[in-house]
Amino acid sequence: MESRKTRFTRWGFIFATVGSAVGLGNIWKFPYITGEYGGGAFVLVYLLTIMFVGISILIAEMFLGNYGKSDAVSTFEMIGNELPEKKPSMRYLGFMTFNGLIIMTFYSVVIGWIFYYIYSAINGLPTTVSEAETEFSTLIGENIWTQIFFHTFATLTILHFVNGGIKKGIEKLNNLLIPSLLVIMVGLLIYSMTLPAFGDSFKFLFYPEWDKLSSEAFIRAVGHSFFTLSLGMGAIITYSASVPNSINLTKSALTVGFFDTVIALVAGLVIFTFLFQYGEEPSKGAGLVFISMPVIFSQMGEIGSVISVLFLSALAMAGLTSAVSLVEPAVLYVINRFNMSRFRATISMGFVYWLIGIFAILSYSTTYGETFSLFGKPIFDILETTTDSLLLPLSGIFIALVTGYAIRKVDLKKLQIEMGDVMFRVWYFSIRVISPIAVLFLMLNLFGVIEL
Ligand code: PHE
Repeated sequence: MESRKTRFTRWGFIFATVGSAVGLGNIWKFPYITGEYGGGAFVLVYLLTIMFVGISILIAEMFLGNYGKSDAVSTFEMIGNELPEKKPSMRYLGFMTFNGLIIMTFYSVVIGWIFYYIYSAINGLPTTVSEAETEFSTLIGENIWTQIFFHTFATLTILHFVNGGIKKGIEKLNNLLIPSLLVIMVGLLIYSMTLPAFGDSFKFLFYPEWDKLSSEAFIRAVGHSFFTLSLGMGAIITYSASVPNSINLTKSALTVGFFDTVIALVAGLVIFTFLFQYGEEPSKGAGLVFISMPVIFSQMGEIGSVISVLFLSALAMAGLTSAVSLVEPAVLYVINRFNMSRFRATISMGFVYWLIGIFAILSYSTTYGETFSLFGKPIFDILETTTDSLLLPLSGIFIALVTGYAIRKVDLKKLQIEMGDVMFRVWYFSIRVISPIAVLFLMLNLFGVIEL
């Protein structure tokens, strides 16, 4: 069991967890869904969910990891065995360990697109929207081999760091990339504050217009708050298995929640300032970053190519540090259960998601799209929505329930000391009652059982 031997340093753990949370979800997805669902009201629901449900579950996941000190499957099994009526079958809850690999199938493809865009930005930016649209749709629809090349490149980079293990791979990567990412984002924020459209961007994000908030927007906001905090897939459990014992879990969770939220808001402010400044629409969907942004960068003149490379590099860094946390849970599980070497475990898990990632690529292509679709939807979208709307929330409910009911209250002492009595009571109530009910409500609504 290697996780017992290798430990993060205190800052290493914070950087790695921030690295997991801050990802494509913050810089690519948050701005585009906020744009699609009309701004302020969506942001408010997102912030409220992070505060009242997300952080509670984040603390619970950190606790479980620190308690079990192993991969997620072993941790659930151990907790099951500690119950008076012994339930080793609780290990099946560890299925969430594989959510990360499912996410990786499309996450790695998107990181590949980012690499491609860095390469293409260096060679010149598109000058009109239609040119940019053609470039994006050609990449997605026609250039299968280009995508496979960059998806493979992304995979090899990610696997290289996972293969290094907690200390020599993951901690090193995060210690390097997270501070660089923060510097770039602050730089971009300062630059966008000098542009006149900054005020409009601020208003768009922070003035809720309630009539724009549909029940679908509500659900996306809740689902996204799970995705962005890396909840419900064993990433946080796995990282927290290797924390130094002295660490304050509550403070760490609050720090991670804070950075994750701030980076998403900064990314939103920057992107919408650029969009409004150059008269572009905020509601472009997934192509926002890949279609509207390059055109804007080219309109900025000289400085545009520098900003474009900086922006894309920030995206790539955010993506890579999250990706390692998506692969590590499954790798650690395989190492522990099947006594495999880290190298073999990393290669085999990597191969599985890489291969399915190719199906995801094919599902967007004009030629093979239909073959790689299920129920009329491209496999890419199916992989994305099942994790986002089903597997992550479902796992979130289990995490809350396990922490709230299967762990004895005395064992939660560490958290009680960290939080103080009042805060602890609020958290405990949230984990036992509010969070599971809120998330269940969300899922029932999503499947049309109830109407919000
Ligand atoms: N939180 C990451 C993001 O916002 C994605 C992620 C989800 C990473 C789940 C790990 C686990 O992009």
